[in-house]
Amino acid sequence: MSRVLILLAHPALHKSRVNRHLLDAVRDLDGVTVRDLYEEYPDLHLDVDREQCLLGEHDVIVWQHPFFWYSCPALLKEWLDLVLEYGFAYGEGGDALRGKRVLTAITTGGPQESYGADGLNRYTIAQLLAPFEQTARLCGMEYLEPFVVHGTHSLSQDAIAAHVAAYRGRIATLCA
Ligand SMILES: Cc1cc2nc3c(=O)[nH]c(=O)nc-3n(C[C@H](O)[C@H](O)[C@H](O)COP(=O)(O)O)c2cc1C
Repeated sequence: MSRVLILLAHPALHKSRVNRHLLDAVRDLDGVTVRDLYEEYPDLHLDVDREQCLLGEHDVIVWQHPFFWYSCPALLKEWLDLVLEYGFAYGEGGDALRGKRVLTAITTGGPQESYGADGLNRYTIAQLLAPFEQTARLCGMEYLEPFVVHGTHSLSQDAIAAHVAAYRGRIATLCA
């Protein structure tokens, strides 16, 4: 059985339509640890040793967040900058993450059709997530097919429920 660490980065979870439900749907799964980074670090000062220790205890890392300016909210970027340090995650002696798997789980305000060469956002989600994919690869991790929920603002409650069920299924598979 694999242990899955979900790192949620959402600066206003109380206003969330989707991420809040995605997270609630996986909290009780065996082998899953949920960390709400903005709740954990209200002063935005990360405990790097603690975060690295948690990485060591898990096999799969999930970066769950709303898509903000084609990237992640600032605290997850801070987490990447500080936690994935030289000698731990990459470089000489930096093999702590080798062989682990990474899943990006994002929600976007833009609808699916807006992501592509002919759409408003001009690039595909895979292209825009390239920095996350390459970060994972540089650290020797396997970058999984991202989980993406598009068009969050116009989703019906039924559609949200379907995405929530799909997310629970995806995370449960990763735990197996
Ligand atoms: C600062 C900011 C930047 C955003 N940038 C993007 C973006 O680049 N692309 C996009 O599709 N949506 C963007 N959005 C919309 C969010 O992705 C959307 O509100 C979020 O996924 C909704 O998730 P939630 O219901 O869990 O809050 C942005 C929203 C904010 C507040």
